[in-house]
Amino acid sequence: MSKRFTSKAFLFYFSFTVYQNISAQDNPTYNDCGGTLVKPAESYAVLTNPGYDSKYDNNLHCIWTLEGGEKTLLQMKFWDMNIEPGDGGSNTTCEYDYVEVYITTMEESRRFCGFNSPDTVFNGIGTLTVTFHSDDSVNYRGFQATFQVRENFDPCEGDPCQGGGTCEVDTVSLGSKCICVPGLSGENCEIDVDECLSDPCQNGGTCSEGAELDSYICDCPTRWQGHDCEIEKESPCMPNPCMHGGTCEEIDVETAECLCGDGYAGEFCEIKTGCSNPGIPYLDEYRRFNKGTILQFSCIDEYYLHGIENSTCLVNGTWSTELPECYREGTDPGGDEGLSTWSLVMLGLGLAVGIKLIIFVTWMIYKSPWTFFGKASAFTIHDGAQMQRRRASSTRSVQTSSVYSVSDEISSNSKS
Ligand SMILES: *[C@@H]1O[C@H](CO)[C@@H](O)[C@H](O)[C@H]1NC(C)=O
Ligand SMILES: *[C@@H]1O[C@H](CO)[C@@H](O)[C@H](O)[C@H]1NC(C)=O
Ligand SMILES: *[C@@H]1O[C@H](CO)[C@@H](O)[C@H](O)[C@H]1NC(C)=O
Repeated sequence: MSKRFTSKAFLFYFSFTVYQNISAQDNPTYNDCGGTLVKPAESYAVLTNPGYDSKYDNNLHCIWTLEGGEKTLLQMKFWDMNIEPGDGGSNTTCEYDYVEVYITTMEESRRFCGFNSPDTVFNGIGTLTVTFHSDDSVNYRGFQATFQVRENFDPCEGDPCQGGGTCEVDTVSLGSKCICVPGLSGENCEIDVDECLSDPCQNGGTCSEGAELDSYICDCPTRWQGHDCEIEKESPCMPNPCMHGGTCEEIDVETAECLCGDGYAGEFCEIKTGCSNPGIPYLDEYRRFNKGTILQFSCIDEYYLHGIENSTCLVNGTWSTELPECYREGTDPGGDEGLSTWSLVMLGLGLAVGIKLIIFVTWMIYKSPWTFFGKASAFTIHDGAQMQRRRASSTRSVQTSSVYSVSDEISSNSKS
């Protein structure tokens, strides 16, 4: 049989012997004002205040002590209580006279007065201290209590805790208490805890018991990693590996595919194919066109198109025609072809200035050695021509930005 007493069985045994006939004759009786109590040779000893047979004196402060150790089990019970109550007859405030009990394992001392014996049986381990106090008036009989002692009390005897658990005495129940190693549980640490029971694997991970007592293994779904599948793997599309505005499409957690815009190819859309923007304003910076794309240009109302209406993106990456231009109805495209009145005037003016300059330069060359100055004059004429061109082109750019309309690729060949 186990030598261990569960606290319940122990208390039952203990109380059974004590609760019956108290006999102060057969058992040691303490009725001095305080002193040292010793373990009674018989089952129990009796404790009363001095003067219990009539009335206690004024101004008593008696302290009894029973020194015990870690294996000393103590029990005390009041059988009679006849002590001046506190204000308003209270048996809890006990401002005037009282008896107080304390055992090492008790959370706090308990103080009593009045005319009811507390039902409580005080159990504990260590040292018992009983204090009786009276003030300078109103005296009653006092109290009578019994106590008993049991040495070598050790609920941990025989080491009931399995798997390396630590046994402790529970100060409330006075039974044994096992502090189990991680991974074990149960009163005697006899149960191997199922670590998977608490569902530790997150995000749909599958739990299985690990090799160690206190361990588990999570089998994580592909998107998740970490011991408890708590870390989300980064998407292969983060950050977007596709260049030139390509769209990243995730195939699985590890692989992704770039969907390239027109005119781009390669794993990361890094290769330029097809044709670049032929000069259409306000196009996305990455906008390109696939080979075979035909753009059809037209002008808005009150403008006419100058140039070729359709332009095709050729295999070698150039457009079949130059960008056409739009001009307001009634105006001339200008430039090289179609000599307008205005350009004739300009040409005349240029010629006049040029001739004058040639005369001047000739004069300078003959009159001075500054040949350099002569070159500069020639440059002036050339620059005059450039100015004309610039005017023409600035006119065009104003017009194109507001009047172009490109009928979006009327035909478009796919990358294949
Ligand atoms: C205090 O007195 C009340 C009755 O007034 C009684 O029921 C109770 O048990 C007493 N408590 C103690 C600790 O004596
Ligand atoms: C431009 O292309 C469209 C559509 O293919 C066609 O209907 C039209 O005749 C073409 N214009 C010219 C000038 O070739
Ligand atoms: C591209 O091809 C066209 C027609 O095949 C040709 O006229 C043009 O010169 C080529 N351009 C280049 C840059 O090779």
